[in-house]
Amino acid sequence: MHTSLLFQEAAVFQIPLLAVFAVDIASDKDDAPIPVLLTTSDTLADAAARVIASGEFRAALGETLLIHAPANVKAERLLIVGIGKVAKLSPDEVRKAAGTAVRAAKPRSIRDMAMAFPEDKALSDEHLEALPCSLTARALVEGAEVAEPDWDTYRSDRQDQSVTSLTVIAHEREKSTMQELQQGFNEALIIARAQNFARQLVNEPGNILTPTELGRRAQAMCKENGLKCEVFSTDKLNELKMGAFAAVAQGSAEPPALIVMSYTPSGKQAKSAPVLGLVGKGITFDTGGISIKPAERMELMKYDMAGSAAMIGAMHAIAQLKPDVKVIAVVCSAENMPDGKAFKPGDVVTAMSGKTIEIINTDAEGRLVLADGLHYAKTLGCTHLIDAATLTGACVVALGYLNAGLFTNDEAAWEAFQRATQTSGEKFWRLPCTDDYRDQIKSQIGDIMNTGGRAGGAISAAMFLKEFAGDTPWIHLDIAGTAWNEEAKPWLPKGPTGIAVRSIIDWVRTFSA
Ligand code: BES
Ligand code: MN
Ligand code: ZN
Repeated sequence: MHTSLLFQEAAVFQIPLLAVFAVDIASDKDDAPIPVLLTTSDTLADAAARVIASGEFRAALGETLLIHAPANVKAERLLIVGIGKVAKLSPDEVRKAAGTAVRAAKPRSIRDMAMAFPEDKALSDEHLEALPCSLTARALVEGAEVAEPDWDTYRSDRQDQSVTSLTVIAHEREKSTMQELQQGFNEALIIARAQNFARQLVNEPGNILTPTELGRRAQAMCKENGLKCEVFSTDKLNELKMGAFAAVAQGSAEPPALIVMSYTPSGKQAKSAPVLGLVGKGITFDTGGISIKPAERMELMKYDMAGSAAMIGAMHAIAQLKPDVKVIAVVCSAENMPDGKAFKPGDVVTAMSGKTIEIINTDAEGRLVLADGLHYAKTLGCTHLIDAATLTGACVVALGYLNAGLFTNDEAAWEAFQRATQTSGEKFWRLPCTDDYRDQIKSQIGDIMNTGGRAGGAISAAMFLKEFAGDTPWIHLDIAGTAWNEEAKPWLPKGPTGIAVRSIIDWVRTFSA
């Protein structure tokens, strides 16, 4: 999608479809909705006045209404897009409403569309504060960009319904405000495209996106964006003594890939400057191994590399946003397969850190590859760690599909991450990860075992990772329930979500001057 920002009157812009946002200003829960267009243009408001007065449109989030040949408006169609109750208004509603507009255009085979930037004639100052203009621009463009892709590229009967151009139209105002808007717009394009890149990787089937292929794609992305990238395989794992990662990989005919991407800021860095380590679980297919999974819905286990896709996507944006902090991403990619050479329950493996791990269940493979990834990132000089992984079914049981699990050993890192989610709009819920849970993963045979029983399964998985993070400030994101969208929403198709890309980018930027 070619997306551009234009400062002019929306009503005089010639386009097949112009989307305008509407908010419900009814203050009482039981009152009938009072939809109000978020525009300062009288022409647009007049064109929609009759249908708005009819009561047929409530301005609920995700609701749309199409008017053909709107009076005195140059656009062929006016699409009114609900954004919900004014009291609940935040950039995230803008993000969803913008996505809704794009997804409403697609089945109508509309390829060129415009959006009137939400403006505030009817709203009081109190509500305006919730929508600072650069954040609104960012949310609007991100919402539109992530709504555009349809994951149907493998269908030979595919009907291309791409929206190829989007023009965001804001009316001219003070120069500083226009600059702010433009900055939000520019950042959004970089961030949303990085998120879409991650989603594209997650969508790929396991037979196409093998660990080797994931390495190739990461390498190509790094080359295009001026990042350093190295891709290693079995020999390097052995050389580094990554016994946990290697154990997971050994049952597959596909060799593993250890992908290391790095971004170095151009300015001179102080010796004590932080180095951020982004570690991703990259299981390109998880059968469970010898502790094999049931057949039902196993096909979804192609998305078991969503954590690594999030890191590769984040690096894509970091290369372009150029924060003033060094970032290293470590992706541990393998296929978890049952085989004559596969690792088995009861095996004892030695991680790169030297810790011995008793394998109880070969389906708890993500924590094994991450154990070595986290430790390796520390040896590369990382002072702060963040990992993302589709780690546990238990996290899905605990939090469902809307919040990802968050675990940490460091309050300051957590606070910075919280700040980041305020701009990214992604939802994470913190779960405990305190040392009293450590007993759950104690082993008779080795230092530690790779499962902690059914109770608090997401927590014991996090406790396992914490052993390898050690004293280094660390955040773990369990995205098992949020990486794949099972039900299409008005603003998002079914399929990969690209969760965590935006928050990781914003977290990294909290370290930049
Ligand atoms: N990749 C799965 C977790 C998962 C489940 C991701 C559902 C996405 C959706 C992970 O490798 C796994 O199999 N975890 C086991 C751990 C258990 C054996 C301790 C699980 O959650 O059942
Ligand atoms: Mn598994
Ligand atoms: Zn897995």
